[in-house]
Amino acid sequence: MSDAVCLKHVEKGDYAYEEAIKTLRTNIQFCGSNLKTVMFTSSMPDEGKSEVVMALAVSLASIGKKVLLVDADIRKSVLITRHGVRGRINGLSQYLSGQKTMEEILYHTNIEGMDIVFAGPYSPNPAELLEENSFKELIRAAREDYDYLLIDTPPMAGLIDGAIVAGLCDGAVIVIESGAISRRLVQRVKAQLEKSGCRILGVVLNRMDTSRDRYYGKYGKYNSYKRDAYEQYYEKKKE
Ligand SMILES: Nc1ncnc2c1ncn2[C@@H]1O[C@H](COP(=O)(O)OP(=O)(O)O)[C@@H](O)[C@H]1O
Ligand SMILES: [Mg+2]
Repeated sequence: MSDAVCLKHVEKGDYAYEEAIKTLRTNIQFCGSNLKTVMFTSSMPDEGKSEVVMALAVSLASIGKKVLLVDADIRKSVLITRHGVRGRINGLSQYLSGQKTMEEILYHTNIEGMDIVFAGPYSPNPAELLEENSFKELIRAAREDYDYLLIDTPPMAGLIDGAIVAGLCDGAVIVIESGAISRRLVQRVKAQLEKSGCRILGVVLNRMDTSRDRYYGKYGKYNSYKRDAYEQYYEKKKE
């Protein structure tokens, strides 16, 4: 195991977001103890995979789970810059191409219980690298040491990487940016995952505008309606 790295900006400080991540955490836990390796995918870039997978890893670690976050987005990794990680960091692409050992790419983090594998330098053949036996070996070894392996992947539209990773995972979560993605695209991702034999655990609807959401709107009204009714009832009883 390499030295610990410090991940910055992992807390969003957004109450609704944190609650949603807790719900996701609970749902993942309810999938049973056989579910260890979960990939996060989407049809297009920028739907929020990396953001959600990091928040979930931190959340699972906060309740005492041992978590390994693996960044398998060798094409466009954002974690090192986004979380202000300093120093010379070895990553997955170097391990898969035989330049580094498994121990050299595993890092403890400042978050207790959470370890991380960064993507490593860009490589011209990420899909081929992910097909290496050494990737299977990494997942197999990590399954012994961790409660959960969360795998961040590139988007699935036009790229095979996600389907390769899916074949090695117990389940997949599809992250969808609310209002931005067509049903047809999501169905294509679903079909690709099914072809890889990966169980689809569910969908995260990201960046939902709850202020315009009809359900919450109605619920709010219902609440105030009920409160009014109760108040009138008690006022009457007092009389
Ligand atoms: N912690 C963060 N710091 C800065 N920008 C962020 C952060 N989290 C999300 N974003 C923004 O959200 C966008 C999409 O999030 P990201 O998780 O990178 O999507 P994906 O992994 O699906 O490509 C990014 O392009 C960035 O603009
Ligand atoms: Mg990403």
